[in-house]
Amino acid sequence: MANQVREQWATRAGFLLAAIGSAVGLGNIWRFPYIAYEGGGGAFLVPYLIALFTAGIPLLVLEYVIGNRYRGSPPIAFLRMSRPTQALGWWQVAICFVIAAYYAVIIAWAVRFTGFSVGQQWGDDPEGFLKQDFLQVAAEPGMVSSYVSGVLWPLIAVWVVTLVILAFGVRRGIERANKIFIPLLVALFLVLVVRAVTLPGAMSGLDALFAPDWSAITDSAVWVAAYGQIFFSLSIGFGIMITYASYLRRGTDLTGSALVAGFANSSFEILAGIGVFATLGFMAVTGGMALDEVATDGIGLAFVAFPEIISNMPAGSLFGLLFFGSLVVAGMSSLISIVQVVVAAVQDRTGIDRVPAVLCVGGAIALASILLFPTEEGLYLLDAADHFINQYGIALAGLVVVVVVSWVLRKLPELQSLADAASAIRLGWWWPVTLGVITPLVLGWMMWDSLRTEIAENYEDYPTSFLLSAGWAIAIGAVVFGVIMSFLPWKRATTEAAEEPADDTSKVSR
Ligand code: ALA
Repeated sequence: MANQVREQWATRAGFLLAAIGSAVGLGNIWRFPYIAYEGGGGAFLVPYLIALFTAGIPLLVLEYVIGNRYRGSPPIAFLRMSRPTQALGWWQVAICFVIAAYYAVIIAWAVRFTGFSVGQQWGDDPEGFLKQDFLQVAAEPGMVSSYVSGVLWPLIAVWVVTLVILAFGVRRGIERANKIFIPLLVALFLVLVVRAVTLPGAMSGLDALFAPDWSAITDSAVWVAAYGQIFFSLSIGFGIMITYASYLRRGTDLTGSALVAGFANSSFEILAGIGVFATLGFMAVTGGMALDEVATDGIGLAFVAFPEIISNMPAGSLFGLLFFGSLVVAGMSSLISIVQVVVAAVQDRTGIDRVPAVLCVGGAIALASILLFPTEEGLYLLDAADHFINQYGIALAGLVVVVVVSWVLRKLPELQSLADAASAIRLGWWWPVTLGVITPLVLGWMMWDSLRTEIAENYEDYPTSFLLSAGWAIAIGAVVFGVIMSFLPWKRATTEAAEEPADDTSKVSR
């Protein structure tokens, strides 16, 4: 493996498109608008922007520098930084495995709903349609459940497309796909937002979203939500940015790239807020309801509230195609980046070529996804896995990474000089301060706060046995996997490659 030359992005713009494609995903469209609304509307922009500048951008730069300096997926990048820390990398690989398995399922639903939009097949009862007719959700979690073919087939299609793109490699697969996905997403979403803001009642929705409620920012839960949103939305803490930056030519402006990706992601998020709340404003006005009765997030927003709105608006089917089409495109570019972390880790670890790695690894994730989620119990499994892997996977791994890199290995000065050597904007004193002090404090508080809630009450009132097997077992299993993998020996040549980095000017790909 060490003798093979690492793949490279063809251009920095290609890398940026892929990084933005990874960041802009389901989190932007269905999570941000509601979190902003609940967190004080216009006033939420204060914690949000502070989270972006004190955690989002600094961590993005950190992940870019680690990937670019150590040229590897998270396990090998951390191993090359300091051998024992490779467990962190494998932990992130396990996190990506879990997220990819359920993230693909939501894209599969969006694929079906793109089709349902045409005939508005959900009828007068979108919630009943989603839960009973489409997902056939079991009465409670933990029951023996059978397959739901309406989800199975689109899920297989999502996996086939993802694996084919990955099999083409970084430059011919991921980079090319994002060159199509991102302009397509922007076009679809712009049309959707223009249509949304011209609907009757749109302005009342925007007013509800942006009217500042300054009292909200004294609530610590709002700050926790802002930091959580920045993490998930920017794809930090998953190891994705380490992996993507490992294919980036040395000497690329990393700080500038982080700023571009961070601002692009936040701009899309605000655009999504405008589109979603203008639409909810229409629903509130036409239904004679208060906006807080219609505002929701996640699955309820996309697969219940939006279908209802689509049924009530002129040319609703077209609006449905735009909305669900945007979800599919935004989700696909994120899914590809999540699976690539696992593929790259296995390639780095074993030295096998890309296509067999994609088939084995991608095939394994696809199999887990296909076996577990298109079932009557799938919605509960998805909800529990999502909650636990976000709280005790991404955010916890992010916390451990910043503490280890800043305080245990004391690597920040070296990594800062590397970033500064190649970047137009120099990182000042604020970079080590935000990473070494502010981010650990905020993330530490987040962990403490969510653990307290977890112990006080069962998440969503699910039975304890279900939460242990579908939530805690996954979160703890990811850590255990990381530790076990770090004890297996690597081939000597693989680990030595750090000392003698691959020739960055080469165009060879594998
Ligand atoms: N960053 C991706 C999202 O927002 C994972 O959905």
